[in-house]
Amino acid sequence: MCGIVGYVGNREASEVLLKGLKRLEYRGYDSAGIALVNGGLHFNKGKGKVDALAKKIKQSGLEGHLGIGHTRWATHGEPNDINSHPHMSESGNIAVVHNGIIENYTTLKKQLISRGKTFHSQTDTEIVAQLLEEIYTTSRGVSFEQAIQLTLKQIVGTYGLAIVNKDMPDKIFIARKGSPLLLGIGENEMFIASDASPIVGYTNKVVYLDDGEMATITKDSYSVKTIEDVELTKEVHELAISIDEIEKAGYPHFMLKEIFEQPRSIADCMRGRLNVENNSIQLGGIEDVMDDLVNAKRIVIAACGTSWHSGLVGEYLFEYLAKTPVEVEYASEFRYRDPLVGEGDVLLVISQSGETADTIAALREAKKRGALVLGICNVVGSTISRETEAGVFTHAGPEIGVASTKAFTAQVVVLTMMALSLGKRKGVLSQDEMSKFIKELSKIPSKVEYILEHNDESIQKMAGLFTYAPNFLYLGRSYNFPVALEGALKLKEISYIHAEGYPAAEMKHGPIALIDEMMPVVVIAATDHTNEKMISNIEEVKARKGRIISIMNDENSDVMDLSEFHISIPTTNDCFSPLLTVIPLQLLSYYIAVNRGCNVDQPRNLAKSVTVE
Ligand code: G6P
Repeated sequence: MCGIVGYVGNREASEVLLKGLKRLEYRGYDSAGIALVNGGLHFNKGKGKVDALAKKIKQSGLEGHLGIGHTRWATHGEPNDINSHPHMSESGNIAVVHNGIIENYTTLKKQLISRGKTFHSQTDTEIVAQLLEEIYTTSRGVSFEQAIQLTLKQIVGTYGLAIVNKDMPDKIFIARKGSPLLLGIGENEMFIASDASPIVGYTNKVVYLDDGEMATITKDSYSVKTIEDVELTKEVHELAISIDEIEKAGYPHFMLKEIFEQPRSIADCMRGRLNVENNSIQLGGIEDVMDDLVNAKRIVIAACGTSWHSGLVGEYLFEYLAKTPVEVEYASEFRYRDPLVGEGDVLLVISQSGETADTIAALREAKKRGALVLGICNVVGSTISRETEAGVFTHAGPEIGVASTKAFTAQVVVLTMMALSLGKRKGVLSQDEMSKFIKELSKIPSKVEYILEHNDESIQKMAGLFTYAPNFLYLGRSYNFPVALEGALKLKEISYIHAEGYPAAEMKHGPIALIDEMMPVVVIAATDHTNEKMISNIEEVKARKGRIISIMNDENSDVMDLSEFHISIPTTNDCFSPLLTVIPLQLLSYYIAVNRGCNVDQPRNLAKSVTVE
């Protein structure tokens, strides 16, 4: 939700900022702007994407060596030129960019208006610029940094903030509470950003700001302190992301690149952990808490969006392979309903970004109540990865497309490895069973590769036939019920077609009323132990003239005969099936969205990282 970037050094700041904003655009893309300090405070901003801003900046000739930038996902105030960031103080001396929500902004705004301030935008952010200027100009002997601290003390809500002052042309001020921010330390240059992507290629040294912290940076120095003014020495981390990972590598969209990366990302996720030779699984990140997991009364999984779907697969996996009871919660609901969780429970949060506000809130709530809090995250250094007591990284590489693909499969792989390790430790799985599972799991990357190689063309053709279908129904059973939800979500997100995922048998309790000759029904019929029941469900759809698209194992003639279209995928163990069945569904949604002319990587109204509640 909103991306922030800042630069001070010898390069042309607008170039660094625009390049950085482009990489952060997945966080929000309804408007963008930058402010530069160069003999004055100059800004350019407006509705639209970063490319539109870049054109305006080129025409305006805006130059300088210090500046801040922002790409917006609107919360308060519609996306328009005025509501775009940066927001300026009344005198025009201070510029602010913000990610987060200032919850008491109406009260503060009313107070500022009563003291004669004029507001131009409908945003919550503008009050920061106005209040800060008021405090700075009216409090005697207060430094700008202290004025920022005093301002932040009046603010309730969340923020990642970057601030510049016309009279301090060599400094950028930043502060964090609830919205991510990091510093990049270069040679005679410094960067700030919401995540590491704008910094890659300039430096690999980063400092992550924690909640309640602020920093002042110049081109060759930085100082971090708390909002309460306590100086801090922060650890400098090494980034391990390369430029190739954050570029499209010849693919038309990040989403397609990320779908096709899955044989590799799944293998990366298993590397050094799944050992076929000595028949073992090593998950270093949770080794120390394995006993707690063995003794856990239950595991509660909390997540949002696609990560919630992988959590649902996790429920089936943990209960089958480790005989540990699992509940899966929407992180947003968990947090607000006085959850009965405490000592002896494990809360497992799953998040690609590691920055989803509701998931972070769930984590904190469970921690407060005494549960052991573990995480599965993709982004190293993210808030969730730092606040959980232990966890496992998915190592899927940066995921830029807003619709999550390779993060889902990597999360399911981690959950599978966790469930297998736990099952082994608990004595639920014999060495022999373990060996069979490990061997089969190790074959998943090549099976995914096979699906991508052999089905891409037929899925493109099929997508052509269903491009203008107004609705879709996705049905699955057991491990593939969450995949039905995920397939429907992918289609909704990027093609704006209404789609619902349902447990196949539940269809009889409502959705069956929707089925007629216009309704494409995607059935995921690739698990053996539910095959017969699934065939009955397909018959029920067919009897009502629904158009059946099936995802099935090899040459399953029973399913094939009932289907208008079928996609054959290699057989695997039932419990690994989601790792294969989801692939054709990702491709189907991708090609339908492309046919409809949708912006696949930046679907309307969505953002990759939802850092507001
Ligand atoms: C947003 C994204 C989804 C993602 C969800 C959870 O809605 O658009 O793709 O699944 O957030 O994100 P997380 O980073 O916590 O997995």
